[in-house]
Amino acid sequence: MPTPLPIVDRPVRLAVVGLGTISELALPPYAARDDVEVVALCDRDPERIARWHEVFPKALTATDLEDLLADGAGGADVVDVLVPTPLHAEVVCRVLDAGFHVQVQKPLARDLESADRMLAAAERSGAVLRVLEDYLFHPPLVKLKEVFDSGEIGEAAGIHMKIVATGRGGWEVPMSSYVWQFEQAADGRGMMVFDHGWHQLAVATWLLGPVERIFGWVGRTEIVPGIVMDAPSTLVWEHANGVRGVMDITFAPDTFFKSEHYTGDERVELTGTKGFVRCNRISAQGIQEPSVVVYSEGETRGYHALPDRLTDSFEASTAHGLAHFRGEAPDLVMGGAAAREVLAALIAALDSSDVGAVADVPRG
Ligand SMILES: NC(=O)c1ccc[n+]([C@@H]2O[C@H](COP(=O)([O-])OP(=O)(O)OC[C@H]3O[C@@H](n4cnc5c(N)ncnc54)[C@H](O)[C@@H]3O)[C@@H](O)[C@H]2O)c1
Repeated sequence: MPTPLPIVDRPVRLAVVGLGTISELALPPYAARDDVEVVALCDRDPERIARWHEVFPKALTATDLEDLLADGAGGADVVDVLVPTPLHAEVVCRVLDAGFHVQVQKPLARDLESADRMLAAAERSGAVLRVLEDYLFHPPLVKLKEVFDSGEIGEAAGIHMKIVATGRGGWEVPMSSYVWQFEQAADGRGMMVFDHGWHQLAVATWLLGPVERIFGWVGRTEIVPGIVMDAPSTLVWEHANGVRGVMDITFAPDTFFKSEHYTGDERVELTGTKGFVRCNRISAQGIQEPSVVVYSEGETRGYHALPDRLTDSFEASTAHGLAHFRGEAPDLVMGGAAAREVLAALIAALDSSDVGAVADVPRG
């Protein structure tokens, strides 16, 4: 049975399964806080365990999920699942059935059938299923939402999103983190539309509610023989409230962009009936414009001093998740059902590209 919530008067105990690239953003906030204790670490790769065991020396370690669960996951309340996306459903369902709350990385799952199995397992066990979508905690995007919610730009009229994946700059990502991404791409779920576009559709859904109809036009660029990037691509959609959106995804392999983490030029512009609010960067710090610009009534205002690193988003997401388990933040921000809505839109976009026609997004 999952730990009854809220957890008060002691730190939340956490086990982490999967200690690859994203652990370098997800785990530092745990080490910096005293209201969470990392009690168990699991990865198939002993070197990745060793890397994090130095930081959390008291944590139980395991190279096999079943061994971890046989040991009660070190007494964990919550299991943080950071394994490759194609394994989310299998690992999350197993962990939920074993009686733990779960936080899993985006995207929720590879398909709706897997997502439904995860939601059903959470329902069965009464556990929390939280999806870590860091963009919903990116301070400039939080500011963008705050400006929109204030009514300053009027009613929503349209949303425009841009991703330019630049090929140079940012941190070193090991080839092992790409291998499963390339397999996932061969399975019709490429790095740019499925893995990265998820973030943007999550933001659009967070701002404007569920997507009702969508069309994807997914292109191909072969970067080396046999390895194809799913760009140039364009997605257009209509939310249930009638607001339309467009996302433009471009691959610019020779462009350098400054970043401490993933690199790329990302923009989100929400147009209202009276003006607009635009977020000028998310993952990278390539161009030092203000991170947020607001235009209304003939004047612009820029925000130059908002925290704008991915580390800031992960810290804020961690703080919110822990507040939820302590009973101080009722809204998960992204729970399983909200994540399923994003996945349904994304899969519909991919399917629509295959048939060349607008698709209705199925409701759960
Ligand atoms: N929020 C973000 O911006 C963001 C960025 C990158 C990745 N992600 C997500 O994080 C997840 C992991 O991505 P990554 O880039 O860290 O991948 P990765 O390949 O770098 O790391 C995955 C780790 O999981 C381990 N692993 C695989 N199967 C396992 C199993 N059955 N049991 C235990 N360990 C296992 C691997 O050994 C590896 O260390 C994916 O879902 C990805 O979409 C999110």
